[in-house]
Amino acid sequence: MKKLLLFLSCSLVLLHCSPPKKTHGLTTQNAMIVSARAEASQIGVAILQQGGNAFDAMVATELALAVAYPYAGNIGGGGFMVYRKNDGEIGALDYREKAPLAASKNMYLDHNEEVIPGKSTLGALSVGVPGTIAGVFEVHRKFGTLSIQEILSPVIALAKRGVAVTSKQAHRIANYQSAFLEANKDSILFQKEWKENDTIRYLALAETLTRIQQKGAKEFYKGETAKRLVKFMQENGGILTLEDLEKYEPKWRKPIRFSYDDLNIISMSPPSSGGICLAQIMNAIEPFPLNEYGHNSVKAIQVITEAERRSYADRSFYLGDPDFVSIPQEALISKEYSQKRMANFSFEKATPSSEVSHGNIQIIESDETTHYSIVDAFGNAISVTTTINGGYGSKLYCSDLGFFLNNEMDDFSSKPSSSNMFGLVGAKANEIAPEKRMLSSMTPTIIEKNGQLYMILGTPGGSTIITSVLQTILNVHEFDMSMQEAVNAARFHHQWLPDEIQLEPNSFSSTVIEKLKSLNYQFTESESLVIGKVAAILVLENGTLEGGADKRGDDAAAGF
Ligand code: DON
Repeated sequence: MKKLLLFLSCSLVLLHCSPPKKTHGLTTQNAMIVSARAEASQIGVAILQQGGNAFDAMVATELALAVAYPYAGNIGGGGFMVYRKNDGEIGALDYREKAPLAASKNMYLDHNEEVIPGKSTLGALSVGVPGTIAGVFEVHRKFGTLSIQEILSPVIALAKRGVAVTSKQAHRIANYQSAFLEANKDSILFQKEWKENDTIRYLALAETLTRIQQKGAKEFYKGETAKRLVKFMQENGGILTLEDLEKYEPKWRKPIRFSYDDLNIISMSPPSSGGICLAQIMNAIEPFPLNEYGHNSVKAIQVITEAERRSYADRSFYLGDPDFVSIPQEALISKEYSQKRMANFSFEKATPSSEVSHGNIQIIESDETTHYSIVDAFGNAISVTTTINGGYGSKLYCSDLGFFLNNEMDDFSSKPSSSNMFGLVGAKANEIAPEKRMLSSMTPTIIEKNGQLYMILGTPGGSTIITSVLQTILNVHEFDMSMQEAVNAARFHHQWLPDEIQLEPNSFSSTVIEKLKSLNYQFTESESLVIGKVAAILVLENGTLEGGADKRGDDAAAGF
């Protein structure tokens, strides 16, 4: 109906309005992987070509990113996976880090109860118990078909052979030199001037992965690797113990499921806020004819911003680890609730965030990151976002074992109403407790249309993850873009607090910005701001797969 209206209004205004030609990403007939590095996409695709399924390829791609993309790919972090099998079965795995047993609510506060800058972001105290190795082995145990020997061999070979430095990577490494120096006692592999096209060989990581290949996940959580990691952490002032590692378990979760027009959207449940917030925002904007307003038009930005503002206020109050706090999930993702929250929105004027709090729900029911998307030749789909939080995590690099440790503890709320590195303000639901998982924004998502697999997507970007996934879906569904165009299009973001719209630089019309300013919207448009780095796959009407590899990174699609 919306498309018909657009067509009619186009016809009236222009008499004939031929649709603009679309620019497509890589298209393939059978299978595809889109990830942050070509090397990782290719290793995953090689596993698919050997007859492996999407789950085998997930293990290979995740670990290949740990080698080729140390900025965010990891074995020292954690993540979330959403899957949809070819028979329609869906599920989600939470291999998020958790707080060590010795963690405590006020561990980042001084004696005046003020947050100590850097304590939750830099060095050993910022590290949560890593979940990645447990996660990939759990995926393999449940769904894998090839042997771990076969899956890890090309990854280990890559680590030994080394990976070429890209221009973007050379810049990143240069930018982080002083942080590396601050976080580490000794000089690390990355503490030198790596130039574009240099090759970095990851020999210590190759040895660690070889032991894991031979002995399984228990090598990381109980074996020699575990003991060496704990020794390293304690030497650096950390609180991680062998008991923390031994007790770590990934958890199967029920994904969030909701509809938007004729789309059926499947996304990550708590301890990620991704699925709930995406559902809330999409429920709130569904009644508005966005495609009539136009992509990044004043009215479209207003509606999306106001829906985001209200959802992020709820995120702050209600969301945390579901094993520790009760989340009124069904109420939060009901269409009635989000649409009621929009009742005080007006096109005449911005709603100040100071006037927006969390919604009232009476009944409490009991009850630098990287993303890759995979479709295999059997029609199984996987959407995974994995992270060590900041770029190079805590910057603490274990030279002995060859990997960076996360700084995921910063995703907790160190103190009510103080903000974390993404400016997110938290509350009691996300306070620190031993063994609790910190709230995430990661939004690995799979979409069905007419009961069939339609889109697989996700992105890094901290608090901007949810809104980047949102805009990418809308770009295809409302604004008729190809997958690649949808991924590349300029993005904006609002997260309730601070009360401002973040814009990617030089991408929005000044007329639109001026009009929004006159309606009391405030803006930040920093030169270096990148909002998300989406990796997506779209199933076209004839069954062909189209990749969307974000121009903002070194992302690459591969397939056959
Ligand atoms: O779980 C989260 O929401 C964050 N730790 C994600 C961090 C992230 O995306 C950093 N990358 N830009």
